[in-house]
Amino acid sequence: MCGIVGYLGKNGAKDILLEGLRRLEYRGYDSAGIAVWENSKIVISRSVGPLDALIEKTTAELLVGTAGIGHTRWATHGDVTEKNAHPHRSSDGKIVLVHNGVIENFSAIGKFLSEKGFSLSSETDSEVLANLIAYHYAKEPERENCNRFLESVRRALLHVRGTYGIVVLCADCPQEMVGARNSSPLVLGIGNGEYFLASDVAGFISRTRDAIFLNDHELVHIRGDDFSILTLNRERIAAVRQAVDWDLSAVELNGYRHFMLKEIFEQPKSLANAMRGRFFADGSTAHFGGLQMSPRELRHIDRIILCGCGSAWCACLAAEYLIEKFARIPVEVEYASEFRYRNAPMERNTLVLIISQSGETLDTLAALREAQRKGFRVLAITNGVGSSIAREADGGIYQHAGPEIGVASTKSFTSQLCIAALLALHLGRLRDLSYEEGTAIAEALRRLPQQVQETLKLSDSIRSVAERYRNCRDMLFLGRQAMFPIALEGALKLKEVSYVHAEGYAAAEMKHGPIALISPDCPAFFLACDGLTLEKTISNIHEVRARGARTIAVVPGGGTFPETTADDIIAVPEAHPAVQPILAAIPVQLFAYHMGVLRGCNVDRPRNLAKSVTVE
Ligand code: M6R
Repeated sequence: MCGIVGYLGKNGAKDILLEGLRRLEYRGYDSAGIAVWENSKIVISRSVGPLDALIEKTTAELLVGTAGIGHTRWATHGDVTEKNAHPHRSSDGKIVLVHNGVIENFSAIGKFLSEKGFSLSSETDSEVLANLIAYHYAKEPERENCNRFLESVRRALLHVRGTYGIVVLCADCPQEMVGARNSSPLVLGIGNGEYFLASDVAGFISRTRDAIFLNDHELVHIRGDDFSILTLNRERIAAVRQAVDWDLSAVELNGYRHFMLKEIFEQPKSLANAMRGRFFADGSTAHFGGLQMSPRELRHIDRIILCGCGSAWCACLAAEYLIEKFARIPVEVEYASEFRYRNAPMERNTLVLIISQSGETLDTLAALREAQRKGFRVLAITNGVGSSIAREADGGIYQHAGPEIGVASTKSFTSQLCIAALLALHLGRLRDLSYEEGTAIAEALRRLPQQVQETLKLSDSIRSVAERYRNCRDMLFLGRQAMFPIALEGALKLKEVSYVHAEGYAAAEMKHGPIALISPDCPAFFLACDGLTLEKTISNIHEVRARGARTIAVVPGGGTFPETTADDIIAVPEAHPAVQPILAAIPVQLFAYHMGVLRGCNVDRPRNLAKSVTVE
């Protein structure tokens, strides 16, 4: 949550910062602000609301300097007001900072600072940190071989409890910028005579792809043409530079009206990328380069715990069905936020598998650390190359889905399902899954991108369906077996982007309570693609219709589903059970998208949400 960016170079900082913030806006959009060096002073400009308001405000402002910092906020401490917007300046005017994260001991620090004569003008924890750095800066003597500005940031951070990604300017040091991170991401971009700091590479991808991903408890000091990285204990770090392999088009709309729609339509490609190079030569199984586990070790797993949040949690649940069915390994699914505090008893050969698009979700990262603390091996499925989860896991699988800018997970969700199917195939073939069964799954996976392409052609007809339901206030999403996680994801997607209240249930559970909600005003959306339970699901549809509710059903094509069973039928290509959930997920995404657009919602930036949740 919150996007931060910093620039130090030879070009106008204002436009570079605003462009960076535009690409980071998915991380938060309650307010935005920049601070730019101008005529030997740091000038701050902030405004409430999305970035457009700041762009309008700063159009008339000169802000000609070549260094500065910027922030797009997802509010944690304090209302959405201009005074709570970042950047924050210390009360003595020396330090200006942007911050992503939460300073947990901010009240105690604030009290200490007020006794020392510092005053606070906002309700934020971040302003406290700016003042704490200023306090240390005032105390810190000029010393040889020790930069006073850098040292004051370092000393302040030693007293901080909580999470931070920060970029800091000092009124006495026009050619310097300091950044630091702890559990909130920060990446250094190295350009041609210019440096960038940002929450992720999207913040500077148009100017450089040469990046260094900072680790927790590291500081970066940029000074003129040079930079250095050190730990909070002052140890020098020889950081590894990485070439980012995205191209700019990945973070632009390219003619689509919304990122969400663009990313839904990118799924044939993201699924192909998830599978590229991962089929074993004999065509009956998958293999992965990064698991860091031998076949023998994989065979010895007797339980898997899957952990994630939100859509990634729904992907965990879908993975449970796949791994249990094809690999016959017992699986449990946990909300990362619960798992981290639950002290769950775990057996010796338990493997923990983390799923996270961003690789930065704080609860998921904490779950990973908790499992590792107990000595368990943790693997991760993530799209976040170089992310905290990618770096801290013992091994894992990259999704290669490309950047996902829309706040709603779409292509990252199906790519997680695809990798789960590959993993189930791999684990299954190490156990009892036969060559024939393995080959059938591998072939189904290979056909998948083409079938998804076919399914995307339904977009216009799904929009027509959405037009008939656009005014409903509630909706139930129901599915059995592997369709149950898709029902949950469908409900989450609809709530998130259209603000229609929606609940997902296992279809048979409906009769144990939710059926009381069914009325002409509460339609039901059925995921009726599980072959084994299809007849039962059809009975559930009849039960709902008998109570006056309208029904939509996603069904496998091929004419096996009686046409008059539901009011609106969306037929997707029929496929192997290992991939059918992915095909069923596409209409659910398109339905939520069209509902959101028809209802006038900002589908890319739904209210109150942020793409990457780096607070508890
Ligand atoms: O980056 P992660 O996959 O860890 O994010 C977890 C959730 O915040 C995320 O899946 C969220 O629920 C989706 N954006 C909803 O569409």
